Amino acid sequence: DKGGYRHFMAKEIAEQSSVLAAAVKFYLSGREGQTMLENDLDFTNIDRVVMVACGTASLACFTAKYWFEQIAGVPVEIDIASEFRYREPPISDRTLAIFVSQSGETADTLAALRYCAGKAGKIVSVVNVAESSIARESDVVLPILAGPEIGVASTKAFTCQLVVLAAMALQAARQRKVLPAEALSKLEDQLLQMPGLMADVMTCEGQVKAISQQLARFKDAIFLGRGAMYPLALEGALKLKEISYIHAEGYASGELKHGPIALIDDDMPVVVIAPHDEMFDKTVSNMQEVMARGGKIVMLSDAKGLAEAGGETWQQIEVPQIEGPFAPIAYAVPIQLLAYHTAVEKGTDVDQPRNLAKSVTVE
Ligand code: M6R
Repeated sequence: DKGGYRHFMAKEIAEQSSVLAAAVKFYLSGREGQTMLENDLDFTNIDRVVMVACGTASLACFTAKYWFEQIAGVPVEIDIASEFRYREPPISDRTLAIFVSQSGETADTLAALRYCAGKAGKIVSVVNVAESSIARESDVVLPILAGPEIGVASTKAFTCQLVVLAAMALQAARQRKVLPAEALSKLEDQLLQMPGLMADVMTCEGQVKAISQQLARFKDAIFLGRGAMYPLALEGALKLKEISYIHAEGYASGELKHGPIALIDDDMPVVVIAPHDEMFDKTVSNMQEVMARGGKIVMLSDAKGLAEAGGETWQQIEVPQIEGPFAPIAYAVPIQLLAYHTAVEKGTDVDQPRNLAKSVTVE
């Protein structure tokens, strides 16, 4: 049931606010006492976390790497499952291994999990399908509570994965006592506010739709982001190519000048994820490098950011001001909408893009 929407993807984007509310509540509800995660996970007896997944789920892991490292001081290794499983990486019993998969059936992720079984201290899976193979073979199963995701392009599963991983990073910080209590509770509040913000962010849809009508004319696009917005830039590029068939690449903003800038001309739209945060000035200077070469900037930022640097950009998308490290969760919405409306404009099969399957059970 598409719930009145034209595509499952549109419905799944729109319902993220309510779906996330349930996930946030489930993982943060025990604030005063024991949280649900506290019973199952011990971050005090590990040296590092290894996170393995494929596609969009691997980009959720990549985002969470920033959180685990910055918030909890835990070293994190991330990898895509198809590489990890054949790399023979050393895994000790002081490693917590996390496998993220919407379907819980992705063949490479399952094989990576089996590689770690018996080596890692604990095998944790973050899945949407609780009775899946990956869940069955894990020591701890953390459901993302997204409900069925029908669109092949992952949207609400991605943001729910981010919520669970964010709650885990907070749990790690709490157990390892690396943050003062006030700092920790501020972060918890920021995560608790995320579902409400997801609804506010949806107000940018009109702007995004208008820009998508322009974007659909191009053959290529680049997405740029810094810090935890870098994985989101990769996700934006993945989503756009997956459903609109426009060739898109994501780069860390600071990496542009090391090669990709050679691609910039006036046929190259560049989506810059640029919240007005501590890295804003750096991102703006990368944006100026692109504009100086005729690149067409689509600037995604808040009112402050757009007022400071949006003036000469080709297009602007405004989202509310979002404080703190979990901002990529809310910024995922315009990124998803951009891919969605571009695909609709091009008339592609949004929910069933060519050559793709919802669950990839071949290696
Ligand atoms: O079911 P999984 O989360 O393990 O699937 C992993 C990828 O195949 C998946 O995220 C894929 O990249 C999506 N279609 C992207 O939108």
